[in-house]
Amino acid sequence: MSALFQFSQRGSIRLLILVLALSLAQMNYAASPKPVRGKNGMVVTSHPLASKIGSEILKAGGNAVDAAVAVGYALAVVFPTAGNLGGGGFMVIRFPDGSSTSIDFREKAPMLATRDMYLDSTGEIIPDKSTLGYWACGVPGSVAGLNYALEKYGTMRLKKVIAPAIEIASHGFPVSCTFHKNLVFLAPVFKQFPASAKAFLKQGQPYAEGELFVQKDLARTLKRIAKKGTDAFYRGKIAELIVAEMQKHHGLITVEDLAAYAPKERPTVTGSYRDYEVISMGPPSSGGIAIIQLLNILEAFDLRHSGFNSSRYVHVLAEGLRRVYADRATYLGDPDFWDVPVQGLISKAYAEKLREGIDPLCATPSCDISAGSPQIYESDQTTHYSVIDKNHLAVAVTTTINSGYGSKVVIEGAGFLMNNEMDDFSAKPNTPNLYGLVGGEANAIAPEKRMLSSMSPTIIANDGKPFMVLGAMGGSAIITSVAQCILNVVEHDMNIQEAVDAPRIHEQWLPDEIVYEERGLAFDVLENLRKMGHTLSETHNYRAEVNAILICPRTSTLYGAADSRYDGCAEAF
Ligand code: GLY
Repeated sequence: MSALFQFSQRGSIRLLILVLALSLAQMNYAASPKPVRGKNGMVVTSHPLASKIGSEILKAGGNAVDAAVAVGYALAVVFPTAGNLGGGGFMVIRFPDGSSTSIDFREKAPMLATRDMYLDSTGEIIPDKSTLGYWACGVPGSVAGLNYALEKYGTMRLKKVIAPAIEIASHGFPVSCTFHKNLVFLAPVFKQFPASAKAFLKQGQPYAEGELFVQKDLARTLKRIAKKGTDAFYRGKIAELIVAEMQKHHGLITVEDLAAYAPKERPTVTGSYRDYEVISMGPPSSGGIAIIQLLNILEAFDLRHSGFNSSRYVHVLAEGLRRVYADRATYLGDPDFWDVPVQGLISKAYAEKLREGIDPLCATPSCDISAGSPQIYESDQTTHYSVIDKNHLAVAVTTTINSGYGSKVVIEGAGFLMNNEMDDFSAKPNTPNLYGLVGGEANAIAPEKRMLSSMSPTIIANDGKPFMVLGAMGGSAIITSVAQCILNVVEHDMNIQEAVDAPRIHEQWLPDEIVYEERGLAFDVLENLRKMGHTLSETHNYRAEVNAILICPRTSTLYGAADSRYDGCAEAF
């Protein structure tokens, strides 16, 4: 069975690569306007090859965790902007019996990190230090997290689920239009780092659209992981390569940092919205708490009759969001270092108190809500994937190296990018960042601490059965995007593709404005919102990608939807 699977899997992946290569000129990665239907399993990711690999694993008898781990390794090869070995993430699992768990494989600050490491002698932030190069890197968690999930909750061997990623890294995949554009844009940056230039450029030039992108060093790294497991990365040859690179360039990550890294299994954070159970990621993510808190606030409003994106709807949504983000800034950080009042924040009674402050006709200026302590910018280049298998084991995973292509540092000889996740800490409390997202003491830098995240892998259940599996890429807009997708289904009766694609708004307390997608709000709605006192700002480039699954409660049919704004794909089985 396993040899047969390996043969057919390898054959079908080669065939898929060939088809992709041949049809690239007319290629449209966008999801279909209708959700993809399936009965036995569904995988929705940011890349067609990764979705295909996940569904092949399900077809071969793997469960949703096996498929999710295979997808995680595949994305590290085919989606280097955010898929990774050198980053971290969160996995939320709901078991068929209704219980749930979460795996935290967020990066950690190196032991040599210090609170003011990104400030100059006058206390000002040193530009680029937390975002570009060796000092920006946190200790990676992805390999440990994926392997932990597989060992504890999967059924297949690591060698099998990692094989498709090795295959594609060894033989290449065709460069898409988006990937080509990224390479053109980033070529000057990659040239600052010899190993990155070697990995991502061909004789100093970006790969052309349709060219095969082969990653021999990365294939070797994956083979080492396949053979020796987690230890290969944290104690063996790969650890040696990471530390050598750090030492050569005065980076902070040491042998001790890598050896000490361990993922943490944590209870999920759970709440309810009407008849639905909300299961999501707790700290060090802010996502689950923020989504539950928002839904608690909104529960008492008649959103259904207000109508999708009406002025009444957008007003209460924005008012709820500004309160949630104010609390996020003040209370959230790594729970191993900071006492996060989780139960208080997600209690219905607290939501009622917050709701009392919402004027139905008038915007509350953000400065009247709370004085928080500003935090540094959170970037938008995460990636989320959703998986469900025939037994309705549901897995939601969001993973990141922070900004697109992370720190831009590839580890010489190992072929993978390192994260720039240190930028998710509050480098300097009370300083608004590029995007105005704020935070404070709870998220200050400390050795071995995990930086705060917005990643929100989420599962919604109804009547004891899974109903939605979703999450998003998009930095601070992850929370607003996931919440709106849930409301689009539950309140506005959209199918899952409509719910994912519907125009969204974003409000994050500071800056005090509602950002809305181009053509997302009608003219009279904009007028009404302005009269209520809201400041509005249109965006032509909404940076959040939701990849979601809906399970029909009546027929158990699975519906998958990749975000039409991006190049992802749903694969049914
Ligand atoms: N790096 C983005 C996040 O974790 O939210």
